[in-house]
Formats: sequence, C-alpha cells, structure tokens
Amino acid sequence: MIELRCQKSEIKEGKIKTLFSRDFQVCLTSFNSEILAFEDVCSHDGESFDGGTIENGCIVCPRHMAKFDMKTGKALCMPAVEDINIFPVKTVGEEIIVVIED
Ligand code: FES
Repeated sequence: MIELRCQKSEIKEGKIKTLFSRDFQVCLTSFNSEILAFEDVCSHDGESFDGGTIENGCIVCPRHMAKFDMKTGKALCMPAVEDINIFPVKTVGEEIIVVIED
C-alpha cells in the first residue's frame, strides 16, 4: 500500500493538485467540498490530465477531450472507453492522505 499526503489547504475547488510517488501520479481536487483523487493517466492514450479542465464534477482530458467522472472514474465520452482509476481519500486533521492499494 502507498500513501500520498498533502495539506488540505493545498486542495482547491476547480483546480488540480498533482501528487507523485515513484510509481503513481495522482490528481486531487475538491468538488462540492468533497476531496476526490484519481490517477493522472487518461485511459484513452495514457497521457497526463495536466492542462485539462474541470466541468461539473468531470475532468476533460486536454489531449483529445475525453471526459471522466472524477468521483466514479467512469469514462463519459469518446475517444475513451475505459474508466480511470480512482482512489480513496482520508482526512486526518489538516492532512489529506490518498491510499493506493498495490
Ligand atoms: S489521451 Fe486523453 S483523450 Fe486521448
């Protein structure tokens, strides 16, 4: 199991905060005051969501505009047909912990 951590104050509504480990890159954001975490890998072509936009709880990939529900990981439109990985988030005081099971 891997845990990635940051401070709650670093997570902003409508903005992406990226956390890195050796094997994973994770996007964090806040939507309707809920903190969400998903892998920074688009299921269409393996690209990062860096530079993507957030629309109504969805991340839109900047490469070919596939859209994913950030809470469920569900792919919502072409060209993506596979969902993206999402991760549970724990809050301990002011600390945010993303839990990645191996
Ligand atoms: S790499 Fe994301 S839509 Fe193509």
